[in-house]
Amino acid sequence: MAIDKLKPACTRRELSEASYLTRNIVFKKLPTSAIIFAFEGIAYAYVNHCMHMHRPLNCEQDAIFDDTGQYLRCSMHGFIFDPKTGECQSPVCKGQRLQALRLEEVDDTLYFAEKHLTLTD
Ligand code: FES
Repeated sequence: MAIDKLKPACTRRELSEASYLTRNIVFKKLPTSAIIFAFEGIAYAYVNHCMHMHRPLNCEQDAIFDDTGQYLRCSMHGFIFDPKTGECQSPVCKGQRLQALRLEEVDDTLYFAEKHLTLTD
C-alpha cells in the first residue's frame, strides 16, 4: 500500500476502548459510514447499511451487537448478522450480507484497503 493512499480507520487502542467505531466514508460514490469492531480479537469493518430497510445498524440505539455479543444487530427491527461474514441470520433477509470492507493493519493502525473508499471525516 503506497503511503499516499493510506486510509486510516482507527488504531488498535481505539478499537479496544470501544465496542465499535464509525467513520464517515464515501464508498462506490455513495456517502455512508463504516462500522469497525473487534470480534474474537480480529478487526472487521462493514458499510453501516442494513439491507432490510436501508438504515444504519446503530440508527435507533448506540449499539451494533445483540445482548449475547455474538451477533451484530440492527437496532431498527432487530435483524441479526454473523459478525465474521456479515451474513443476515433473520428470515426475511437470510443469506444476504452486509458489505464487508477490507482492513490492513500496519504498526497497530488499521487502514481501509478498499480502492473505492474515500474518508470524509
Ligand atoms: S432496517 Fe435493519 S432490521 Fe429493518
